[in-house]
Amino acid sequence: MPATPNSSALRPVISPSILSADFARLGEEVRAVEAAGADWLHVDVMDNHYVPNLTIGPMVCKALRPHFKGPIDVHLMVRPVDALISEFAKAGADIITFHPEASDHVDRSLQLARDAGCKAGLVLNPATALHHLDHVMDKLDVILLMSVNPGFGGQGFIASTLAKLRQVRARIDAHVAAGGQPIRLEVDGGVKVDNIAEIARAGADAFVAGSAVFGAPDVAGQSAYGQVLRRFRDALATV
Ligand code: DX5
Ligand code: ZN
Repeated sequence: MPATPNSSALRPVISPSILSADFARLGEEVRAVEAAGADWLHVDVMDNHYVPNLTIGPMVCKALRPHFKGPIDVHLMVRPVDALISEFAKAGADIITFHPEASDHVDRSLQLARDAGCKAGLVLNPATALHHLDHVMDKLDVILLMSVNPGFGGQGFIASTLAKLRQVRARIDAHVAAGGQPIRLEVDGGVKVDNIAEIARAGADAFVAGSAVFGAPDVAGQSAYGQVLRRFRDALATV
């Protein structure tokens, strides 16, 4: 059952987050997860100001670029955002999303990403209101809803995100029906094999998964990543 009868949802994509990968073997991890069927690669950038954690910068993105053929999906949890948008675009990012609270000029920041040849998007925290989308729908390629509070992998999915996803799906559907460009609806945090179908039914068409993928135990010498991604796709096929 699609999210709505005339849903504008796109072919579902899975974007494993390297936040839960083995940082001592990142190149190998990224190649393995793409071979296992990852569509995008989610790169969580945290600055210890906007969120209480510190992860990776554009140099690491640049180093990983040759190891992943598909789109690199950069999630900026930093303040300010503009300089890093430009740096990550140069480092090979394909998609750049940021939090509206972290930019003084959201429209300008979106345009910066697009002018650099990237897809651009806004990320809304669990308690961030949807009105941030009101005047920029025509400049968005992605809307990312956080289903955990940003900063750490391995947290539980916040159930109220499902209602929020339905509201954003309705907004995107109306935008597309009125002749607007397609917009991805991505979800990030606590996505697991046992809840991905319900999340897709609420309208998401891009799924970030960190601990579910990179935390999966090896099974009988088979690629653990491949097994998890296959189970994700099987669950999505029931939607
Ligand atoms: C949290 C990050 C997420 C995180 C998801 O701030 O934005 O991308 O890696 O991890 P899981 O899938 O473990 O919730
Ligand atoms: Zn993320």
